Amino acid sequence: MKDERKLQSTEDFPIEEPARQYAFMDRLKASLSVRKLAENREFTMHVETFGCQMNAKDSEKLAGILSYIGYVQTDSEDADIVVYNTCTVRENANTRVYGRIGNLGRLKKKHPGMKIVLCGCMMQEEHVIEKIKKSYRFVDVIFGTHNIYMLAELLYRSETEAGRVIDIQSEATRIVEDLPSVQKYDFKAGVNIMYGCNNFCSYCIVPYVRGRERSRRPVDIIRETEALVANGVKEVMLLGQNVNSYGKTLEPAVSFTELIHEVSLVKGLERIRFMTPHPKDLSEALIEEIAANPKICKHVHLPLQSGSDRLLKRMNRHYTKAQYLSLVDKIKEVMPGAAITTDIIIGFPGETEEDFADTLDVVRRAGFMSAFTFIYSKRSGTPAAEMDGQVPEEVSADRMKRLLACIGEVASEQAERLTGSTVKVLCEEYKPETGCVTGRLDNNLLVHFDGCEALLGTITEVRLDECKGFYYLGTKTSDL
Ligand code: SAH
Ligand code: SF4
Ligand code: F3S
Repeated sequence: MKDERKLQSTEDFPIEEPARQYAFMDRLKASLSVRKLAENREFTMHVETFGCQMNAKDSEKLAGILSYIGYVQTDSEDADIVVYNTCTVRENANTRVYGRIGNLGRLKKKHPGMKIVLCGCMMQEEHVIEKIKKSYRFVDVIFGTHNIYMLAELLYRSETEAGRVIDIQSEATRIVEDLPSVQKYDFKAGVNIMYGCNNFCSYCIVPYVRGRERSRRPVDIIRETEALVANGVKEVMLLGQNVNSYGKTLEPAVSFTELIHEVSLVKGLERIRFMTPHPKDLSEALIEEIAANPKICKHVHLPLQSGSDRLLKRMNRHYTKAQYLSLVDKIKEVMPGAAITTDIIIGFPGETEEDFADTLDVVRRAGFMSAFTFIYSKRSGTPAAEMDGQVPEEVSADRMKRLLACIGEVASEQAERLTGSTVKVLCEEYKPETGCVTGRLDNNLLVHFDGCEALLGTITEVRLDECKGFYYLGTKTSDL
């Protein structure tokens, strides 16, 4: 049903942000309340995240805007507005999205009023937009990673203009602060500290779809953290593709170490995590800050990608196997109990059995607590896509099997060391059927123990009775 009231041209809205977006939100809110009254029902939204923590954080902002307008969240895709926040880091992320858009089209046939919105990293690729224009004509709104703050404006245009609205920007021109956001969890939240990436690792599409590095001002980061804590958040994760280069472009420049220290001063905040540091820039000052600061989790996620110097060079990673291992040694020397986790790519172009052996060697020597492992996926437009020596699928699959076995062994050995100790955990889940609470350790592993719902969102002490490889069974030792 179209809103009958006189429609304003988008030129009549304020130019400054975020005032402009609030004006669009208010306008949409007013027309939605008319529809709510007329149809005597709630209007629903479904926002789905396909990618990384940064993608998830963007989804919280998108959901925040829709919730301000008056939509209520639903798990079902059969909603009045469906938003797919896509990822394109690997081909399978991409394929999954196309399949799901097809399903949405079938749903929309049954409910023609449904609005379908596509956004996120995949939309920054030209060939994707061409394909959607041609094969998925039922999509209403498409935008990329640089203008997610404009969701309300684009929805308004979709309601007032004929045809679908496509607005892909090639570079981010601004960081818009102070838009609404709804958190997925009450007790933990991600906080963006920077956007984009300048590293251009040769396999990676992220710099092309997320643009150049831009840092948020410390004052905005602190203000957001304070507001989250005031709402009950105990743990924040500072997010960026390469957090060590935070603040370089700010005036005056601020280092990540200074920022994390400042964030830790927020009263009521209990735990801080961060993702992702790049091994080439992890400073000693940061390692010392992590060690000395009781609020910072003793966990460093340090993506290795490969243990072979030859491949690291071809990957444009700017470190060697020896440098990576000495960084690990440094972390362990300063923080003996620290957990180190990693990302590894198997089957990068030109990977030989010898290169792979180097990767296994680093896995054993670094003693990872866990690892995300990926089979190399060719991303068009990246330098690696043009490299010779693409590795056959069955070879990668076989190496992956061996890598997983090796990581399994190393990781359970690491986890086993904590058995019998008493640790602090953030209680993240409660299952009423079993009375079981799941808590997250400082090192990111999970422990299941008997407890009650009131523990949710609190930090409590638990004894780790038994190690099950990637998780523990435990007993709560502190009183609630
Ligand atoms: N900025 C982070 C990670 C971003 S993407 C970093 O530098 O570590 C997350 C992980 O996806 C990467 O660490 C890498 O292991 C993996 N990845 C990225 N591009 C890939 C590709 N083309 N094929 C397979 N895995 C890839
Ligand atoms: Fe991709 Fe490398 Fe940037 Fe990480 S640091 S996002 S892997 S280009
Ligand atoms: Fe994240 Fe995927 Fe984009 S990993 S930055 S959502 S391509």
